[in-house]
Amino acid sequence: MSTIIETKDLTHRYGKLTAVKDISLEIEEGSIFGFIGPNGAGKTTTMRILATLLRPTSGNAWVGGCSVLEDPRGVRRQIGYMPDFFGVYDEMKVWEYLDFFGACYDIPASRRVGLVDDLLQLVDLSHRRNDYVDSLSRGMKQRLCLARTLAHDPQVLVLDEPASGLDPRARIEIRELLRELQAMGKTIFFSSHILLEVAEICTTIGIIEAGCLAAYGTLDEIQSHRRTRQVRVALSGRVEEALSLLQSTPAVLDVALNHQERRRHELVVQFSGDDSAQTSILTRLIQAGLPVIGFAETKAELEDVFMQVTKGIVS
Ligand SMILES: Nc1ncnc2c1ncn2[C@@H]1O[C@H](COP(=O)(O)OP(=O)(O)OP(=O)(O)O)[C@@H](O)[C@H]1O
Ligand SMILES: [Mg+2]
Repeated sequence: MSTIIETKDLTHRYGKLTAVKDISLEIEEGSIFGFIGPNGAGKTTTMRILATLLRPTSGNAWVGGCSVLEDPRGVRRQIGYMPDFFGVYDEMKVWEYLDFFGACYDIPASRRVGLVDDLLQLVDLSHRRNDYVDSLSRGMKQRLCLARTLAHDPQVLVLDEPASGLDPRARIEIRELLRELQAMGKTIFFSSHILLEVAEICTTIGIIEAGCLAAYGTLDEIQSHRRTRQVRVALSGRVEEALSLLQSTPAVLDVALNHQERRRHELVVQFSGDDSAQTSILTRLIQAGLPVIGFAETKAELEDVFMQVTKGIVS
């Protein structure tokens, strides 16, 4: 697999405010990259730079080998950009809207008819082709906007919060659509606030906060960023004893009784270290003859990771 999107020390300043600071990313062809971060983190700024709508203050970015600084036209040919707002298109019908964008990309009129049909079918809007754009629901507008970004058949899609403001069904539809586009060989770079959504669909994730990349990698890699790990220990009795024993175990940072569990006694143990640290916890309990009936590591949820790698900085 080769890298199709790359940024190197990408920085953007709006006056004194550094909205994006030294962001370096390498995104592989055919992947779905989820860009997550709180409001004002710099997601839109980064994506607008990739779409060549904004020049970086320093650093550079490449799409399919073309630099946004040296060859913006080359970048634009390869990229479909969906902004985070739809815009106002009074008096334009659904098919006219797509036809208009097709014309913007110099697609001849003879080819546009078939193209508009195909795009409408892909985003499931064929039945609304003669309606006015402004009469569509938000979810439909979002799908139409996605169709428009595909008009020139770009290899790379940069989508700024494609699922924002949608109901659960419409979100799922967008997600399915992204999967379909990936299956067609497209590389997708999209932003979102919804961590779960990102986790379900992405091959790689970047977490950005206050302009800086806080974590970056596959979901597994990101989850291992968690500074502490956690195991749940279930016991059939002697819980207090187990609690004090664990509190004096070297790798253990914190032990708490899990109050949610009524039937069994369960301890939630936070520890630092590798697998051998985890083994030492279990060994300690067994050697003390404590009645352990369950011992399992709980994987970090993406939300935990997000809370740990971001500091709640508001820019
Ligand atoms: N045109 C502009 N002029 C000045 N500052 C701007 C401009 N656009 C964005 N900013 C600032 O840059 C920072 C990053 O904004 P950006 O829109 O990139 O964040 P975001 O991650 O997309 O946020 P959101 O999740 O709210 O969409 C913010 O502090 C924002 O106020
Ligand atoms: Mg934004």
